[in-house]
Amino acid sequence: MSAPCVATAAKPQRQESLQQGPPHFAERLVAWQRSHGRHDLPWQASTDPYRVWLSEIMLQQTQVAVVLAYYPRFLQRFPTVQALAEASEDDVLAQWSGLGYYRRARNLHRCAQQICQEHGGDFPRTAQGLRQLAGIGRSTAAAIAAFCFGEHAAILDGNVKRVLGRSHALPASAGTAAELHALWSLAERLLPRHDIQAYTQGLMDLGATVCKPRNPFCLQCPFQSDCRTRQSGSGAAPLFDAAHGSNAQQRTRDTPVKAVKARRTQTWVLLWAEYVQADSALIWLERRATTGIWPGLWCLPQFDSREQALRHAAQLGVLTGHSLRPVTRHALTHVDLQLEPLQVRITPTLGAREAGGTWFTLPEALALGLPAPVRRLLQTAASSAKLQGGPQALAPA
Ligand code: ADE
Repeated sequence: MSAPCVATAAKPQRQESLQQGPPHFAERLVAWQRSHGRHDLPWQASTDPYRVWLSEIMLQQTQVAVVLAYYPRFLQRFPTVQALAEASEDDVLAQWSGLGYYRRARNLHRCAQQICQEHGGDFPRTAQGLRQLAGIGRSTAAAIAAFCFGEHAAILDGNVKRVLGRSHALPASAGTAAELHALWSLAERLLPRHDIQAYTQGLMDLGATVCKPRNPFCLQCPFQSDCRTRQSGSGAAPLFDAAHGSNAQQRTRDTPVKAVKARRTQTWVLLWAEYVQADSALIWLERRATTGIWPGLWCLPQFDSREQALRHAAQLGVLTGHSLRPVTRHALTHVDLQLEPLQVRITPTLGAREAGGTWFTLPEALALGLPAPVRRLLQTAASSAKLQGGPQALAPA
């Protein structure tokens, strides 16, 4: 056996020999996918590019288990690309609410409109054509083209980078443009002549279920005997995380905040303004900017301090009471939010609509595209029915 190749110690001039990974890589992966891969995911039942595209966008930065809950619901609401293109952005964001990374939803909507307006309602049939559309990058375009049209196009998402990086002992270093280029070249060189669908799915399946970022199940891997990293005897396989932008740090709204180290925490005071009438209550929501966190979503207005929030509330009308609601935490990719809802009862004054928001009934609010923690807050209010009779325990303003 050749000398151990410790991936992190690889030198550039050895790159070529290090890229001699397991022989018959593609054939073995295809065989493994057929016997051990995933075959029952709902988007595998079709080669309809609308369904495949939707799944690929949902699966970016989101785990399969989470997508499984959203995918059928979204398809039921928007069964065709035309239905999606004709929907309002609010409606699309509402259906996406809770999946996170909302820019994906806005691009999804734009992409549907591009397909209907510029392509007569049909998806382009090549990876190159698909890449011209909103929100479709090189790897996603290749996945759609491979699954739907049998194109021999290489994918390279975070999981695939890890599988190729480990099996071929590429250096797990800084993820430079040169390294990325080398990974793409390798991904293209490995493409099989046949069975592109099983091969593409095999790469995804191996990365997601066996060649995991931490504690990979090497004994279940079809390349266990000749994975270059495993052969190196270095024990722990390189992570291929930060360096290669893997989705090892995929977050869901249920990811415990404490599981992620060295993260920033930001405190946001959320102004929960209510206009309580005789038999119902209205909630004040503002649409967020189209850049930054929760782009384009409706939200309780956000402030750095209670004082700022109360000053804003005073612009909406006459304050008649306020109280602090329980603090909640919400993990985003790069920051943990500590959300402090400040519930304020208000009698609006004329002109409040000019302040950049709108009063909504609770059912109206819940039909909007809301960030997941804001939706949960309002749902709590709905289930405790406080909003029906007005908040009970607000201190006088
Ligand atoms: N991740 C990205 N695309 C996927 C797919 N088609 N199936 C399973 N996981 C995926």
